[in-house]
Amino acid sequence: MQVLVTGGAGYIGSHTVLSLLENNYDVIVYDNLTNSSLESIKRVEKLTSKKVKFVEGDICDKEKLSQLFKQSDIDAVIHFAALKAVGESAEIPLRYYQNNVHGTVCILEVMQQYQVHNFIFSSSATVYGEENDVPYVETMKLGSPSSPYGASKVMVERILADLALSDNKFRGVSLRYFNPIGAHESGEIGEDPKGIPNNLLPYIAQVAVGKRDKLSVFGEDFPTKDGSCERDYLHVMDLAQGHVAALDWLDRHSEFNGVEAFNLGTGNGVSVFAIVQAFEKAINKAIPFEVSPRRAGDLSAFWANASKANKELNWHANRSLEQMMTDTWRWQSNNPNGFLD
Ligand SMILES: NC(=O)c1ccc[n+]([C@@H]2O[C@H](COP(=O)([O-])OP(=O)(O)OC[C@H]3O[C@@H](n4cnc5c(N)ncnc54)[C@H](O)[C@@H]3O)[C@@H](O)[C@H]2O)c1
Repeated sequence: MQVLVTGGAGYIGSHTVLSLLENNYDVIVYDNLTNSSLESIKRVEKLTSKKVKFVEGDICDKEKLSQLFKQSDIDAVIHFAALKAVGESAEIPLRYYQNNVHGTVCILEVMQQYQVHNFIFSSSATVYGEENDVPYVETMKLGSPSSPYGASKVMVERILADLALSDNKFRGVSLRYFNPIGAHESGEIGEDPKGIPNNLLPYIAQVAVGKRDKLSVFGEDFPTKDGSCERDYLHVMDLAQGHVAALDWLDRHSEFNGVEAFNLGTGNGVSVFAIVQAFEKAINKAIPFEVSPRRAGDLSAFWANASKANKELNWHANRSLEQMMTDTWRWQSNNPNGFLD
């Protein structure tokens, strides 16, 4: 089975490509490298001793995509390619809607043209918005996320639902990720943000390696156990394996058409202070931090009800918080400058 992976050179994409190769899928990566490096794919090839076909291209370039679909026998698409910085999305919303929404429509149009029906979408816990109570369950109505990034994910989920109503061959899966962290246990691939990291773990890791002075903890007055935000952190390799489980689910449900959503998370909320402590314990070193005011739009706490994925996909987020920390540190300390090393 051949899988086209858009955005496959990125953080979650590269770990998923590795899992796909280990499960004997053939993989084509399509990425414009706007937030990634080809080095991630080279390292995946080295780790698996398998080849990946790489095509540099933009998901908005329908002609290039058409050529690729024409030349290749593609059975399924896993669609990671997107811009993902929540703060930046409020500064340049049109760029986010163009890339994340229009780009997805382009892929779906080309898939339809070449009669490829299996589609796995990188959705996010952000689609539950501010309206829903925790833990989030797939049966809840989609919310209204405050950022254009979050709104782009809700819009794509809506587009998939409408497409499924109009095309009875379409078979979509929306995977709603919670907070992926960690790195492959080899320390060869991991999260390599360009510029100042937007996410907690890469920031902590860069403080630990001496690239940044101290961590800012945004808010200690949330209604949580220790006052800092709580999120559902899962190991990126567990998340990667969720995609293999979703392909397997599509394969087992040959009669299925429509769109099905699954939460991918551990089911536990962990606070920012608890993450800092866990990281300090893993590396046996203190992480300097300061408490800053809350950021606009940050929710106090959310986590997944992951029982649907546990039961139907036969998938569990098994790796421990300790492993998330040690794997992050192995990646960061071996590659202080990311893939530039
Ligand atoms: N990392 C998270 O915490 C998280 C949480 C929920 C959902 N997601 C979603 O998962 C997906 C992957 O996230 P990630 O953390 O690996 O991000 P990432 O930035 O590391 O990977 C995204 C990849 O897509 C590529 N890309 C972006 N726009 C493109 C375009 N127009 N054409 C071709 N390639 C393009 C980038 O170069 C990059 O390689 C995204 O859709 C993101 O919104 C991520």
